[in-house]
Amino acid sequence: MRSRALALGFGLTLALVSTIAFGYDFLGPESCQGCHLEAYAAWKASPHARAKDSLSAAAQKDARCTSCHSPNEDEQRVAGVSCESCHGGGQYYVGAYVMKDPELARLVGLVDPSEKGCRTCHDSSSPSLKPFDFVAKLKAIDHWSAAKAKKAPAEKASTEKVP
Ligand code: HEC
Ligand code: HEC
Ligand code: HEC
Ligand code: HEC
Repeated sequence: MRSRALALGFGLTLALVSTIAFGYDFLGPESCQGCHLEAYAAWKASPHARAKDSLSAAAQKDARCTSCHSPNEDEQRVAGVSCESCHGGGQYYVGAYVMKDPELARLVGLVDPSEKGCRTCHDSSSPSLKPFDFVAKLKAIDHWSAAKAKKAPAEKASTEKVP
């Protein structure tokens, strides 16, 4: 009995370790599109969606470039800098009942993108001449304000001035 429990514990530990080591599977940006129409459209029009396309054919095969321009293509077959490159693999959180529960979603893989995360790619080896300005760059990739505004129409109405 005891050894079975131990074996089970070991199996669970292995499963957990492999999840941490390899992360969650990606489903691709189209899997988010249906529920996050505005976010998808804004991302699609952004440099992150085109990050692979702006490389030459040779550079698209060069790991020294794809590490930032298409970091999840080899393991997850998702090109460019995609939703899940920042928000984590959607394998377990894309279900409607999980998405509606922010805590549960985070427990099963949803990541809060951080400034540190941006800087893994926007570092001194990127071609930008200016240092990375997080606040300004965050504004430049806004794909959440439209949805947030819709979610809180009452709040918005009360703060908006009548012209
Ligand atoms: C079945 C519909 C559905 C799918 C598919 C879906 N989402 Fe969501 N998502 C929601 C709902 C509903 C919420 C909660 C309400 C809201 O914030 O819009 C949410 C919330 C979120 C949030 C905010 C979490 C928070 O509370 O801070 C993020 C980030 C997010 N989704 C990213 C994604 C990504 C990335 C994908 C694709 C991998 C995805 N979602 C797929 C429906 C979905
Ligand atoms: C380069 C990283 C990055 C990519 C790529 C990205 N996001 Fe985000 N996303 C963020 C950040 C950062 C925020 C938080 C903004 C804030 O609240 O200040 C965010 C916020 C969101 C929110 C709103 C969360 C809330 O609080 O309501 C949703 C929904 C979302 N993203 C979905 C997506 C979807 C869907 C895609 C792909 C179509 C995507 N994101 C691509 C970084 C990214
Ligand atoms: C996986 C790597 C990666 C991550 C993480 C990442 N970016 Fe990017 N980002 C890129 C690449 C590559 C480009 C250039 C895309 C192109 O035009 O080919 C880019 C371009 C941009 C641009 C347009 C060019 C510029 O510098 O003005 C903005 C804005 C931006 N990213 C903001 C962010 C923000 C904010 C975050 C964090 C929330 C973030 N990025 C996270 C790789 C990344
Ligand atoms: C450390 C991450 C990183 C690596 C590695 C990287 N890039 Fe980039 N690249 C970026 C970021 C971030 C941008 C966004 C522009 C900026 O920072 O000004 C960018 C922008 C570009 C652009 C301009 C895209 C546009 O739309 O104007 C080209 C072209 C480019 N990179 C090519 C390459 C090539 C070729 C390699 C490999 C030799 C490479 N990059 C490696 C992060 C990286």
